[in-house]
Amino acid sequence: MNKMNNQPLILGIETSCDETSAAVVRGGTECLSNVISSQMDVHKKFGGVVPEVASRRHVERITLIIQKSLEEAKVKMEEIDAIAVTQGPGLVGALLIGVTAAKALAYATGKPLVPVHHIAGHIYANHLVEPLTFPLVALVVSGGHTELIHMDRHNHFRRLGKTRDDAAGEAFDKVARLMKLPYPGGPQIDRLAAQGEPTYDLPRAWLEPGSFDFSFSGLKSAVMNLMHNASQRGEEIRYVDLAASFQEAALDVLVEKSIRAVKETGVDQLVLAGGVSANSALRIRLLERCKEEGIRLAIPPLELCTDNAAMIAAAGTYQFLDGELADLELNADANLPLIK
Ligand code: KG4
Ligand code: ZN
Repeated sequence: MNKMNNQPLILGIETSCDETSAAVVRGGTECLSNVISSQMDVHKKFGGVVPEVASRRHVERITLIIQKSLEEAKVKMEEIDAIAVTQGPGLVGALLIGVTAAKALAYATGKPLVPVHHIAGHIYANHLVEPLTFPLVALVVSGGHTELIHMDRHNHFRRLGKTRDDAAGEAFDKVARLMKLPYPGGPQIDRLAAQGEPTYDLPRAWLEPGSFDFSFSGLKSAVMNLMHNASQRGEEIRYVDLAASFQEAALDVLVEKSIRAVKETGVDQLVLAGGVSANSALRIRLLERCKEEGIRLAIPPLELCTDNAAMIAAAGTYQFLDGELADLELNADANLPLIK
């Protein structure tokens, strides 16, 4: 490693769900390669990710993807300082493929192994565009997580709030399913909502005053009841308007709680992270609100919103610099907590 300027070269590996990815990142910010092989088309016909199919696909692809990431980065394995891999959370069988590949590489090369939390990765996707500035609040909105995280320095996470039931992405996917839209539902709702108006009255779960927690199951049930009642009465549902109404109800809470978290903790920056960051209305709403409030906002570019290994390598860089390494006993953990 070039110890003079702390610019380690990290190989990242990500296989937590339905993307097989490997990447090379220098110094936590400079992405030299980020190879992603999506399995979306395979799972689409089942209406969701089938864990066994995902694992098999990862096995078939992982070696090739790692090779490709080194080739594209024009880096030899000998030059890599450490191997960072998503340890969890995610589908255990899928995670295991990445963890096993990373362990095999670490064993064969003697390189250090860095176990990375998937959500830390999503936050660090922003760091690849413009360095994170601390302290910050991150709104993490993914398929499995909805959390407000406070960070006062690299690699230190404190939770302000989290969802008590469904994650935001999960709610988008479930509502899309009710509307018989194809998987993944989030982008479909986004697309429909852009053509409609929020004319249906749906609940916002603000929870107790002062709470930074979220809840989306009531909103999902309200959509379900509304559809059920309309069909009982033989009324037609305007799907574009229902999608717009659902999306607005979800975003109202996500955006306002994030703004309040920034103000109450007195931080300088709000960072958006996770798959739902791709939502066009969420991006616009946050941009507008942060401008009004004078808050610095970091939004990942669309290609870094979905799962990728560059974000894992970026997060892994700071764990590596902190000496947070794993040995070859490392195991995948489907429920790995971000905050120990
Ligand atoms: O971050 P991610 O890959 O999931 C986890 O790591 O858990 O995010 C996937 C989620 C899915 O629920 C998907 O529907 C949602 O992100 N998503 C969106 C959009 N694009 C992806 N949700 C709303 N609007 C979008 N444009
Ligand atoms: Zn993810």
